[in-house]
Amino acid sequence: MSKITQVYAHEILDSRGDPTIETVIRLDSGQTTVSSVPSGASVGAKEALELRDKDSRRFAGKGVLRAAENVNQKLGPALVGMDPANQTEVDQKLISLDGTKEKKNMGANAILSISQSVCKAGAIASGMSLYNWVSKLGEGMQALNSKLPTRIPTPVFNMINGGLHGAGNLDFQEFQVIPASSKIFSEGLRTSVEVYYQIRESLIRRGAIHSVGDEGGFAPNLFTNADALEIDIEAIKEAGYQIGEDFFLGLDVAANSIWKNGSYTIKDRSNALNGSGLESYYESINQEYRLIYLEDPYHEEDWNSWRELTAKIGDKTMVVGDDLLVTNPERVSRAVSEKACNAILVKPNQIGTVTETLGVIKLARNAGWKIIVSHRSGETNDWFIADFAVGVKSDYVKFGAPARGERIAKYNRLLAIEKELAATQQ
Ligand code: PGA
Ligand code: ZN
Repeated sequence: MSKITQVYAHEILDSRGDPTIETVIRLDSGQTTVSSVPSGASVGAKEALELRDKDSRRFAGKGVLRAAENVNQKLGPALVGMDPANQTEVDQKLISLDGTKEKKNMGANAILSISQSVCKAGAIASGMSLYNWVSKLGEGMQALNSKLPTRIPTPVFNMINGGLHGAGNLDFQEFQVIPASSKIFSEGLRTSVEVYYQIRESLIRRGAIHSVGDEGGFAPNLFTNADALEIDIEAIKEAGYQIGEDFFLGLDVAANSIWKNGSYTIKDRSNALNGSGLESYYESINQEYRLIYLEDPYHEEDWNSWRELTAKIGDKTMVVGDDLLVTNPERVSRAVSEKACNAILVKPNQIGTVTETLGVIKLARNAGWKIIVSHRSGETNDWFIADFAVGVKSDYVKFGAPARGERIAKYNRLLAIEKELAATQQ
C-alpha cells in the first residue's frame, strides 16, 4: 500500500489569464502528481461553488489564495497517511470536511484539484495508466459497462465560438463539427483540422473576422446563427468531405444566455420567442442541417420545453444537458424521470470530486443516455479529462476547437492513448 505524505496547492493561471488552483500530491515512494482545475464562463446556477477571494486588490477579485490555503491547511493535512488508491474514501473525507452540498466552505475548485491529483497518484501507485485506473474505479462503482472495449471517444469540435465565448455577435455559444464515430480518433482529428482550415478560408472570403474565441474556434460577426452552420457545411465540402457521412453538425445554444425577460431572443428571428417558438426554429434548422447534437436548447429551468423537444427529436438527435444537469445527481435523476434530455455533458468541476462524477455517469448510463466528457472554457494544460473520458468509456469528448495549447493538450493525449491501445489490443 502506498501513502500520501504531502498535499500542496498554489495559484496558477488558466487559459483566460484567470487564477486557478493546482495541487501536488507526494507519495511515500517520493513520486509526485500534479493536477489543476478549469473554470467556466457560462456557469449553471446549480454548479458547486468555485471559491474566489473577492479581494479586488488582486486579479480583480478572482484570486484563489483562500482555496489554496484550504488545501494546504485544512484538507491536505487530513489526507496524509491515506492510500491514494482509495479514491472513494479520500473524496468522502473531502466532502465531509467541507460539510455543504455545494462545497461552499472549502470550494469545489480546491476539492477537485486534490481529488484529481489523488486519482493520478492512485494510478501511479497501482502501476497503471491513468485511463485504465479510472476504468477500474468506474467498474468498482458500476459506472461503466466493462464489456465495452476501451476506445477513444468521438470528438465534438467547437469550430465557431459565439455567446459568452466569442467576441463576435452570434447568440449560440458553440457551432460544432463532429466526425463520424466510425472513424478512428486520429483520422477524425486530422480531417476535422482540415475542416477547421477551411472555415478560416471561408471567413476570409466573406471578409469576416477570423480570430478565435475562448475555446479556439473562430468568433466572427455574421447576420444569423444559421450562417455559421452554412459556413461549417461549406468548409466540410471544401475540405473534400461529405456532410451526413464524414461529418455531422451540432450546437451548444447555452440558452441561459438567450433567455431575457421571460423569452428567447435570437438574431435569426425578429420577434422574441417562447419555448414552442424556439422549438419550431430548432425543427426548421434540424430539417436543413440534421443536427445530431443539441446542447442546452432551453434555459436551465424550462423543463417543459426540454421534455417536449426531447420527445420530438430525441430519437435522432442527442439532446444534451449541461447547465440543466450541472453533473449533479439530483438534477440528473429529475431529468431521467421527466425524460427531459437523452445525453449528459459531464464536467467534473460542476460537482467537485472524481467519485461523485463517476456516480453521475452511472445514473446517466443506467438511463441509456449518451455521455460526453467536457472541458471548460477556461482551461489549463492538464489532460486529466482525456484519460478520464477514455476510462469511463464516454461516447464523446468536447475539448474545444483543434487549436490553442490547452485544448490541444487533451487531443494530443488522446492520440497518445490511441497509440498505446493499438499496441496493447493487437
Ligand atoms: P463554460 O462553457 O465552460 O464557459 O461553462 C462550456 C459549455 O457550456 O459547454
Ligand atoms: Zn454547454
